[in-house]
Amino acid sequence: MTATASTVVLGMQWGDEGKGKIVDLICPAFEIVARFQGGHNAGHTVKFGDQHFALHLLPSGILHSTMQCVLGNGMVIYPPALFEEIDSLVDVGVDPRDRLFVCDRAQVILPTHVLLDQAREAARGADRIGTTVRGIGPAYESKAARSGIRCGDFLSNGLRQRLEAHLTMAGAQLSALGVDKVPSLDELEALCRDWGKRLAPYLADTTVRLNRALQKGHGVLFEGAQGALLDIDHGTYPFVTSSNSTAGGAATGTGVPPTHITGILGVIKAYTTRVGAGPFVCELEDDDGEHLRRRGNEFGTTTGRPRRCGWFDAVLARYSALINGVDTLALTKLDVLDELDEIKLCTAYRYRGEELRDFPSDLELLGQCEPVYRTFAGWKTSTVGSLTTDDLPENAKIYLRALEEEVGAPIGLISTGPRREETILIASPVLDRLVGGRLEDILAQRGS
Ligand code: IMP
Repeated sequence: MTATASTVVLGMQWGDEGKGKIVDLICPAFEIVARFQGGHNAGHTVKFGDQHFALHLLPSGILHSTMQCVLGNGMVIYPPALFEEIDSLVDVGVDPRDRLFVCDRAQVILPTHVLLDQAREAARGADRIGTTVRGIGPAYESKAARSGIRCGDFLSNGLRQRLEAHLTMAGAQLSALGVDKVPSLDELEALCRDWGKRLAPYLADTTVRLNRALQKGHGVLFEGAQGALLDIDHGTYPFVTSSNSTAGGAATGTGVPPTHITGILGVIKAYTTRVGAGPFVCELEDDDGEHLRRRGNEFGTTTGRPRRCGWFDAVLARYSALINGVDTLALTKLDVLDELDEIKLCTAYRYRGEELRDFPSDLELLGQCEPVYRTFAGWKTSTVGSLTTDDLPENAKIYLRALEEEVGAPIGLISTGPRREETILIASPVLDRLVGGRLEDILAQRGS
């Protein structure tokens, strides 16, 4: 039976879990895909025909020709990045023009925000966060300081006045940081009017649009960016992004009430990675870490930076499952572990002789924790392209059972390669509910 699904797909670690592929796979069960936070700091590579696209702002669903895409109010939008993505899609015959809706309440990233991000990171020196330097944090700061510009302001008579207020604040901050080449009010206004002309056809009250669509029984997929541990409130603060990347962000970042969200699918990698600075208890700085990086192609889509790699951290994953209310896990990149002799899974942290099972909020304490590992024999067999769990080697099944037990959530999908058909779907009522009762259709479209 089909039912309206309103499902959040989010990353459970520090981002780069492979959400794009999972969204692409289950997209056909939904009519709309909405992003609710972040900006062009995110990045996922999607395949279309023989081409690879690095999308930063547009949700992966844009490549499905009937899918409507929403950029929600919780996002920060850098218009040139959006125009570039639209152009690159139009070039290959994917026209998003009638089905892309940008919330008029979403915040704009201005050149001042980019300058501030660069100057702040430089001023922090060795203590830098390792941001993507795209102005994300400063744009959210302006939002909270009530001196930001919203996409709808581009078309407003009040634009100049708002820009002036913005420039008073941002200009003072920039000059305190020693940046003197700041755009003038006239320059900023001209730029915004220009951006506004191009953005106008896409602007909409997406809050009303999404709620009406749900009332009509249309399925909505909320596509998270980054990962739970990069959440501004729940992540490893201050080494986090500036928005709520956890499940609650889907409600505040789109205007869809929490009571209308019906399920949470948590995407999690079979090991752990992180870009940027901050404590990482299971980090491997040895051959195993290098193997994960090379075999998993762990280099940032947005910045190209090598990702820090480590074993699966169940302490972190348990915390993530808890704060997101994850119904089912989508475990990605299992195949990256295929060649290893031994595989470790961190079940607890050791701090001053004590075992901690809960993820600590104190960053200094976290930095001093040692991982407590369970060691598993590797399976040394290719899992690529397995279609059911029966196809998996026995040692892989043992590892997966332990992972489920430690995290406290069932696995509903297992990805064993970048292609759509390289995915195991474990049929269950929960997974079927997450895709609005259309699991059979998804299985048929996955191919084999
Ligand atoms: P910002 O979001 O550019 O301010 O960067 C803050 C932190 O979040 C840095 O550690 C970034 O590397 C990290 N970050 C931001 N976006 C992503 C992402 O899409 N994947 C992984 N890490 C990210």
